[in-house]
This record gives sequence, structure tokens and C-alpha cells, in this order.
Amino acid sequence: MDSFVLIIFGITGNLAQIKLIPALYDIAEKGLLPENSTIIGTARKPMKKQDFEKYFHSVLHSENKHHKHAIKDEIFLKLCKNLHYLDGNLDDPAFYIKLKKTLKELEKKGRKCQNRIFYLATYPDLYETIFKNLKKSGLSKQTKGWTRLIIEKPIGFDLVSARKLNKVLTKYFSEDQIYRLDHYLGKETLLNVLTFRFSNGIFEPLINKKYVDHIQITSSEDFGIGARGGYYDSVGALKDVGQNHLLQMIALSAMDEPKSLSNEEITCERIKILKNLMPFPEKVVLGQYRGYTKEPNVDPNSIKDTYFAFKTEIKNARFAGVPIYIRGGKNLKTWVTEISIIFKTGNVLIYRIQPNEGIVLKIKTKKPGHEKALEDQYMQFCYKADPHGHYLVDPYERLLFDAISGDQTNFNDAKEVEAEWEFIDALEKKLPKVVAYKAGTWGPKEADDLIESDGRKWLEPSMEFCRI
Ligand code: BG6
Repeated sequence: MDSFVLIIFGITGNLAQIKLIPALYDIAEKGLLPENSTIIGTARKPMKKQDFEKYFHSVLHSENKHHKHAIKDEIFLKLCKNLHYLDGNLDDPAFYIKLKKTLKELEKKGRKCQNRIFYLATYPDLYETIFKNLKKSGLSKQTKGWTRLIIEKPIGFDLVSARKLNKVLTKYFSEDQIYRLDHYLGKETLLNVLTFRFSNGIFEPLINKKYVDHIQITSSEDFGIGARGGYYDSVGALKDVGQNHLLQMIALSAMDEPKSLSNEEITCERIKILKNLMPFPEKVVLGQYRGYTKEPNVDPNSIKDTYFAFKTEIKNARFAGVPIYIRGGKNLKTWVTEISIIFKTGNVLIYRIQPNEGIVLKIKTKKPGHEKALEDQYMQFCYKADPHGHYLVDPYERLLFDAISGDQTNFNDAKEVEAEWEFIDALEKKLPKVVAYKAGTWGPKEADDLIESDGRKWLEPSMEFCRI
């Protein structure tokens, strides 16, 4: 792999702590970090290198549900050699000059800084200022190497603002330099949905309107917004995860097999699904958990959603008329993300995205000892129970590595993000009142009504009836 410098704007923020720093450790542990590469963390607070290393250490040793494995001292110490810290304000042009100077100094010390990745782990309202300053300072110029930019969702807050941001972006960077990251596209278990469907010919012929009754997607978290009130209260659940992660789950579970495994062909199939999603604005439920308005940095009068449920359909020959029910939110009963394909025969195919990642098939069996009685059983593949002891790559580890390698397959391009917003905008045409729900439950009763009025029920998470 090429040596590179990764510059993370916002290294002391939540994203860096929960996802990026652990991912960097994992890349280092696998020996994938070239020795003369550098990771520069930036934030406002002045910090000496030693303090920065201590910060990394404490982040890596903090409780993290996505990163539970042991931290080896020797790997951490090796990683420290690649670390560098720079303080400054992202809206101050002088900061970028200082950064440029730092890169030159690092080059002199034998570090390779011609290949650059800028990771914007910041509030989106800083994006445009950062693009401008990177260009103005010459930092984004590709002379002897490449320059890439990773930005996180939300890309805009509706179709118009997303288009505007995409336009601004392409004023400063070309599309092949821009990595719009939706970390669900890097989840091992979601990528496995494609492998499962297209490499096991026995299931794919059944996944269509002739055999499928409906599809359910649940993405529930059993915790609240924590310290992210400032950000969360400006977006709400539908835009925080619905517009991106959940729409991608529909796309991956319903898209047609791409003609090839190229970035363009895969993206094209995902976009076809997104563009054919039918919005039913009258079939949307929004909820807020009780106590939300008392969370730090949340407006005490906020009516932001921390829960959403909606119904949609895919307007194409394969799925027309098959309802898809989606729900997601914070402070619900259980932490689970899964996609269930419910067949007309009563069989259910479940892609369990997390936790206890795997695939489950509900079947009918003969009840032993009874002549005619049947019972439900579950056939399951579960990574944890796999005797080969697979290591599940964290999405951030994969996507950082992909960006360093120049592979855009699991990133969104401008058209894809805009297709997502087009759907959400249409859904928001007639938003319902946000209703309160009790933390620790399955959300508002209205969401049950949404599915029950069609004569169906939300499924219990598969871990409930099928443990390993
Ligand atoms: C983030 C959202 O994009 O995804 C968070 O901002 C959410 O609110 C998180 O908790 C869920 O990701 P994961 O990988 O923990 O399921």
C-alpha cells in the first residue's frame, strides 16, 4: 500500500473516539500501516505529542461496544510513532498554512506526505469552509501524489442542500477524490447479504413478489443520544440513520445482481432501488422518547424525532406490491439491526446485521412424537459460532483502508446521496406529529398500528428465539 498522511479534522470528537481511533489501531495491528505514514489529528485544544498519545491510549481503553478486543501495548507503541497532533481553528486560513508547513517538516523527516487523505470528522456546517481553505492553501493540489477527501453524512439536510453541497464539493475536488462515507456500506454483514444472495443460487429465484409477502427492517438501539445532543437535535432519527443506513439496507437486500463487481455497476444497482422507492407520506410515524428534551444540548422544547417507522414499496417488476416496513430509533427495547424477508409460505429469511451477526432461516419441522403437528425451527449461520473464528472487520477499518487504496465501491457518489434525499423529501411532504414513547419499549403504539392495519405484525428480533 502507498504511504500516506491521514489528516483527521475533529480528532477529539465522538466519531473519532468511537470509530476512527479504534479503526486505526486495528489497521496498525494487522500491519497495514506503512511505517513512514502519518496520522495527524487536529482539534482546537493545544496538546503536546505526549498528551495526544495519552488521549489515544485512553480512547482505546474506553468501553466501546463495537471494539471489544484487547489492546496490545506493543502495537499501541508502534502506532504512536505514526501519530502527530496539530491544534487550530478550522475556519482560520492560518491553520491551513500551519498544516502545510507541518507536512513539509514531516517530509524532511522522511515521512511520506504526498498522498493525502483529509477526513472531515466535524460538524457539516464547517465543510464548505474546509474545502475552500484546502484549495486556497494548495493542500488539496495533487502534485506528486493523490489527495482524497472523506466526508460523513449528513450530506445536506434535504435534496436542495445536498445538491448545493455536492456542487460546492465538485468545485474543489473531482468525483474520484471524494469519498462520501455511509459506514453501513462497510458492514461485513451487509456486504454478506450480496454474497449470500448472488453466490447461493437457491435463494435468489425466490426473492420477488411471487413468493415474498413483505419485508421488515428494524434498526433499534437500547441507548439514548448520549453526549451528541448538539448534533442529534439538528437532524432527528429519520435523517440521522433513515436517510442513509436504512435506505442502504433496502438497496442491498433488494438490488439486482450487478453486471460486474465494478464500483460503477454496484452503485448503479443500488441507485436503481433508491430511485424506485415509493414514498407514502401518510404512512410515517415519528416518535420521541420521554426525557429526550432533558438531554444535554437539546432544546427543551424540541420536537425532533428519536424514532421513525414508515412503509414503502419498490416500483419495479420484481417487487411491485411487496410492502416494506422500516423502523429505527433510540432508547428502544433491544439493540438489534436486522432485515427480514417474510415469505408467503410463512418461512422467514433474516439477515442479522448486528449483534450476533449471521443469517437465519425460519422453517417448519415435524414435531417429534406427534403424527401431524408442526413446529417452527430456525436454521442459522452465525459468525460467532463458526469454528474458524472469523474476525469481523469493523466498517470504519474497511472503509478507511478502501479510501487509502482508492476503492470507491462502498462509498456513495453524488447521485446516490441525492436519490436518498429525493425519497426522504417526498416522505416528509406531510409529516405526522411526533408522539412520545417510553424508553425501553418498542416505540410508539402508532408504529404497531402502521403495520397491523395491513394485517401484519413486527417480528421479535431473531436473537430472542434463536440464541447461540
Ligand atoms: C450513526 C448515527 O451514523 O450510526 C448514530 O449517527 C447511530 O446515531 C449509528 O447510533 C449506528 O451505527 P452502528 O454501527 O452502531 O449501528
